[in-house]
Amino acid sequence: MSSLAPIRKVAIVGAGQMGLGIAYVSAVHARVHVAIHDPSSSVLSSAMELYRSLLSRDVAKSRITQSDEDAALSRVKSVVGDGSGQSGETIKDDVDVVIEAIPEIPDLKLGLFKKLGGLLPSSTILASNTSSISITKLAAAAGNGASSEERKASASRVIGIHYFNPVPQMKLVEIIPALQTSQETIERAKAFGRACKKEVTTSTDSPGFIANAILMPMINEAIMVLEKGIASAEDIDTTFRLGMAHPMGPLALADLIGLDTCLNIQKVLHNETGDSKYRPSGLLSRMVDAGWVGRKAGKGFYEYD
Ligand code: CAA
Repeated sequence: MSSLAPIRKVAIVGAGQMGLGIAYVSAVHARVHVAIHDPSSSVLSSAMELYRSLLSRDVAKSRITQSDEDAALSRVKSVVGDGSGQSGETIKDDVDVVIEAIPEIPDLKLGLFKKLGGLLPSSTILASNTSSISITKLAAAAGNGASSEERKASASRVIGIHYFNPVPQMKLVEIIPALQTSQETIERAKAFGRACKKEVTTSTDSPGFIANAILMPMINEAIMVLEKGIASAEDIDTTFRLGMAHPMGPLALADLIGLDTCLNIQKVLHNETGDSKYRPSGLLSRMVDAGWVGRKAGKGFYEYD
């Protein structure tokens, strides 16, 4: 019998494609109450619209019943603000886990963890969905309190819980303990990942963890093959779909992840390691400059309606 404290209430910060996907699996599979925080009311209303349409599709496909849909709708509420009280409502201090899913920009994430570390009791797990940023740095930022014991407890509840896009479809979470993370936090985070119906892998806090240490050089190499005129985007992607049985090629995948996110991840990996295999290609940077950041912008390596 597990003696782990149950997770009943989750706050998610960031209502983009990852935040909304995490809200969906939390509410539908883990059946927890979710407050999804975002400073932009229009981002929140698009996220809630997508949430309702995902649930309607589940009912139409007989994956859930009408009463499951009603229950799942009642479990998620949207809250304007960044959750830290800087704008809008603060995260309630009775939540069990906060999952941060804001843009992959180190200063933004460190600033949020610093604020949340001071705001929430050290029994609240502070998790990041970061793809690349050091969890140990986030834990150090969150470590807060008058005594060294309090600071240690405050840092020990920080962990990486890394979901994959599209979250409802992808069957994995990577769990990344910081150097400071307690065993109890690790076990509770793994239990939550499984409750979201995901397989769990564990990585040490190393740049890019498992997935992005391997995926980002592949995406970057694919962009460089395109940039050098070796092959068209379609032929690069077809090679991976049919030659390697990947569900989508690396350029279509970059469009799905978001080219801005790919660039941010590659910058973090390059800064952390100094390794040239993580140096973002010029074409990737130029496309982000142009605002052609993939599916969410209607244009990336391909065009979308
Ligand atoms: N959001 C939500 N649901 C989506 C979606 C999206 N962006 N894209 C597709 N889906 C859903 C579809 O609606 C469909 O759902 P139903 O079963 O209810 O009909 C289901 O996924 C299958 O979609 P399709 O039939 O249209 O297409 P498909 O079979 O080709 O699957 C795919 C689409 C799931 C995206 C598939 O191509 C795939 O698995 N691609 C690889 C995705 C991947 O590698 N993700 C990891 C990215 S790395 C990351 O996220 C981490 C990071 O740190 C960068």
